[in-house]
Amino acid sequence: MSAPLARELAPRLCRKDPVTGENCSWNHGFWQCLRLMDLAVTPADQADFYHRAFQSVTGRSGMPRVLISGTTDYSMLAHVLAFHRERGLEPVVTVLDICDTPLFLNRWYAARASAGVECTRSDILDYDCAAPFDAVCTDSFLGQFSPDKRIRLLEKWRQLLRPGGAVITVTRVRAGADAAPIGFSPEQARALRSTIVRKAAAMPAGLQADPAEIARAADLYLSRQQSWPVRSREEVRQLFAGCGFRVDELSDSRRTAAARRPPKEAASPGEGEQLRIIATRL
Ligand SMILES: C[S@@+](CC[C@H](N)C(=O)[O-])C[C@H]1O[C@@H](n2cnc3c(N)ncnc32)[C@H](O)[C@@H]1O
Repeated sequence: MSAPLARELAPRLCRKDPVTGENCSWNHGFWQCLRLMDLAVTPADQADFYHRAFQSVTGRSGMPRVLISGTTDYSMLAHVLAFHRERGLEPVVTVLDICDTPLFLNRWYAARASAGVECTRSDILDYDCAAPFDAVCTDSFLGQFSPDKRIRLLEKWRQLLRPGGAVITVTRVRAGADAAPIGFSPEQARALRSTIVRKAAAMPAGLQADPAEIARAADLYLSRQQSWPVRSREEVRQLFAGCGFRVDELSDSRRTAAARRPPKEAASPGEGEQLRIIATRL
């Protein structure tokens, strides 16, 4: 239901890049379709990790205050709410993104989940909060930042957390990648395009879209999606330790029981372990 909504609204709501003048609707308008086709890498893929990690999140003064620091849609919000509610807690959640489309989708979901959620449009690097958070969570966000900016991101997360608060996140590690941003290789893009076209043809009612329109959206997505590679576990450890965090967990999701199913064909560039990170602000 949210896939047609996102596709329709993204061209209007998505943020224009001040440098290129282009907006990000190629991503935010198509992501829900990728999710329906089970091609998106989402927090649901790491649900066992997020579930475990949130068990130890507590509010120092009242309900846990959680910041979702960048999110393409409401998947992280759904998990955060569910994992707290099963413990009888109603977390105080702020969803932050630089673009209005994910915020719209989070408001849409929050209304259906009867949750009072604050949605804030901001570059995370410019964001300030009135009261510190008990946890900051996000999925596949480190790759949105160059190595220099990643240090500023960690410093910002540290500033937003109370001492003892945690960063809970997952990032892909691409060993052997260059330092420059990477996109899909031509082979990976070709393979994914044909998977998308095949899946779209099998589910026109679910996607509520003409397969030709989906193919065009796939071409745009596959040519534009990029991320700054995180290249090793050690790089992550040093990043967090150097910015005032104690690293409590760096684990490879491929070693978990839930991951023993065959890896899914994922609409994210490159390959590598999904590194699960829990770090405590000192
Ligand atoms: C969380 S990341 C990766 C997507 C991920 N797989 C997911 O589950 O949502 C993508 C989101 O980060 C947002 N973003 C990128 N740079 C940002 C920044 N500097 N500040 C806030 N949000 C940012 C983008 O708008 C996008 O919605």
